[in-house]
Amino acid sequence: MRSIDDLDVAGRRVLLRCDLNVPLDLKGAPSAGGAAPPATPRVITDDGRIRASLPVIKKLSGRGARVVIMAHLGRPKGADFAERAAGGPSLRVVAVRLAELLGKQVAFADDLAGPSAAATVAALTDGDVALLENVRFEPAETSKDDSERARLAARLAELGDVYVGDGFGVVHRKQASVYDLPALLPHAAGDLILAEVAVLKRLTEKPARPYVVILGGSKVSDKLGVIGNLLGLADRLLIGGGMGYTFLKALGYEVGNSLLEADQVDSVKQVLADADRRGVEIVLPTDIVAATHFAPDADSVVVPADEIPADREGVDIGPDTRALFAAKLIDARTVFWNGPLGVFEFPAFAAGTRAVAEELTKVDGLTVIGGGDSAAAVRSFGLPDAAFGHISTGGGASLEYLEGKTLPGLTALETD
Ligand code: 3PG
Ligand code: MG
Repeated sequence: MRSIDDLDVAGRRVLLRCDLNVPLDLKGAPSAGGAAPPATPRVITDDGRIRASLPVIKKLSGRGARVVIMAHLGRPKGADFAERAAGGPSLRVVAVRLAELLGKQVAFADDLAGPSAAATVAALTDGDVALLENVRFEPAETSKDDSERARLAARLAELGDVYVGDGFGVVHRKQASVYDLPALLPHAAGDLILAEVAVLKRLTEKPARPYVVILGGSKVSDKLGVIGNLLGLADRLLIGGGMGYTFLKALGYEVGNSLLEADQVDSVKQVLADADRRGVEIVLPTDIVAATHFAPDADSVVVPADEIPADREGVDIGPDTRALFAAKLIDARTVFWNGPLGVFEFPAFAAGTRAVAEELTKVDGLTVIGGGDSAAAVRSFGLPDAAFGHISTGGGASLEYLEGKTLPGLTALETD
């Protein structure tokens, strides 16, 4: 992959695809009942992805490029640009935060490939930075129809002389600004993508051993592919979070009202059998925090993993499991973690996720945290990014890489 150091950018318009898909919270939203109106200002709850994009923006701007940033936010709905723009979310709030972090003005265009974008780009001078409105306000961005995406890419190509891909979190999406646009312009990979790929290579090519993978999060169906591939790579898999209950069910335990993907139980049994045959240790929770219902103040008890009461649901791993997972991490030389181990958004049920995050800071080796939720969890505990080897900006993207899939956004940058 060509890097931006091989690209002539001075005085040129650089179309830069970043992943600025930050979590948002409603500000001043009505407390009960009706949904917030779309125009309600929103606040960014974790600006990690904006910070991770700063180096490439500063480098390009410092070299005299006219930097035109494209990014998505959320998954807007609506038949056309106007409907989606009315429903939001707008990237305007991200432009404001980006300008603060850059210490420099960021021009904002109200559209993507329309009159505002054209005027905004035309007004840039060397070193200036602009952000275009949410690429997903154009339905063609995510269209499955190649020719629709190609038409949008052609409109976007009018706005730039060269293309830089640095939105690692979105490289697993075959979308116009990620996959189709680079084919139309001289292109290179940004520093974030290069750094992310270098770390993922260390997880897949001769990782230092023992190699331990921790998986949580809600859906086991999303993770079966990566688990299958990890059985050929890792030495140990520690499994918790919502997806853990389907594993407990596969052992024959009752899981009460816990999250369960009943249609995945047979596949999980197969995974357990494969792991056994290949000598990969799968470590499951031995005790569970079981709550009466899903609420921050729900009554909860710690129960053995095979005694979850029928009228309760698991919301966190218990203290024995925390100690067990810590013991399984102590000798690790490589660790990859994706997905929270409990409902960490509720402080009462964050202990398991917090404990694993803290154990990771003690590991003598490469520790990689993959994905938005896990990264947000770690930061919400006040642990500094520097305590970990690498916090990836891509959850789905890093999982698909570890699964051995081809990532369209990387293929596009690798192709001349
Ligand atoms: C993410 O947050 O996972 C990336 O920004 C990609 O977004 P998407 O999952 O909506 O495609
Ligand atoms: Mg995603």
